[in-house]
Amino acid sequence: MTESSNKTNNASTISATNTTNATIIDGKQLAAQIREQVRLDTLTLNGKGIKPGLAVILVGEDPASAVYVKNKVAACETAGFHSELQRYPATITESELLGHIRALNANKNIHGILVQLPLPKHIDTHQVIETIAADKDVDGFHISNAGLLMTGNPLFRPCTPYGVMKMLEAYKVSPWGAHACIVGASNIVGKPMAMLLLAAGATVTICNSKTQDLAHHTRHADILVVATGRPNMITADMIKPGATVIDVGINRLPDGKLCGDVDFESAKTVASAITPVPGGVGPMTIAMLLVNTLEAAHRSQAV
Ligand code: GUN
Repeated sequence: MTESSNKTNNASTISATNTTNATIIDGKQLAAQIREQVRLDTLTLNGKGIKPGLAVILVGEDPASAVYVKNKVAACETAGFHSELQRYPATITESELLGHIRALNANKNIHGILVQLPLPKHIDTHQVIETIAADKDVDGFHISNAGLLMTGNPLFRPCTPYGVMKMLEAYKVSPWGAHACIVGASNIVGKPMAMLLLAAGATVTICNSKTQDLAHHTRHADILVVATGRPNMITADMIKPGATVIDVGINRLPDGKLCGDVDFESAKTVASAITPVPGGVGPMTIAMLLVNTLEAAHRSQAV
């Protein structure tokens, strides 16, 4: 694939800010459009007597998790959803937490359940995720949802990778035949991202912390997705000219500023399109959580 065939600069569905260099992929604007559509669809569903409901569980006092959870609950309210925030101390036992999840599984007003990660070390995250009913697992982390995604028939797509796919679509970046490189192999982002890009026709490389000569892989990528949690680790020299760069990282620097995993200022001189931090992938994660919860509510109607 040539560098330019990978993307068309004029996104028809969303206006792009063009700097001297790369197109800035505006996740805030795209997320707002998606959230408005969810709000309208929710009104229609209300007419059928259904109010989408999301329960969010936060364990412990991690400040970043508290902010994410607050934003998720606020987004539910704006969309017209019913939302419940359950906060528990870091000392909660695993069996108590599983009991709360089972109660939510049985609650007819709740269509989606999200347990904010990470959890305290004494709690088995795998066990917690497996206890969430698969048809309420709007994060898409349950083993049966991961399996459905892998076999090409997803029930829920994990929100961050799903948001990335929506960004590529809105900016007319086609994965078909492209080489996609994902830096970071987590269950939340890297692995499901690989499955979605593969299903969309990309040739996918997944890099991890043991990868030798990371730059060799990133430099061959038409689509580069970075989710490592390491501030500014991807620099311009690691990017193929004309690539689309998606930065999933949100890191807080000692001076309080937010930055991504990609050195934005240098990368935008090489990439043809790039997501900023903040205002890139972050807002899309929340928008897709609403999409998944709405979908779960629709399905409950069919049951
Ligand atoms: N922690 C970081 N990202 C996520 C996410 O998408 N879902 C949940 N539940 N926890 C997270």
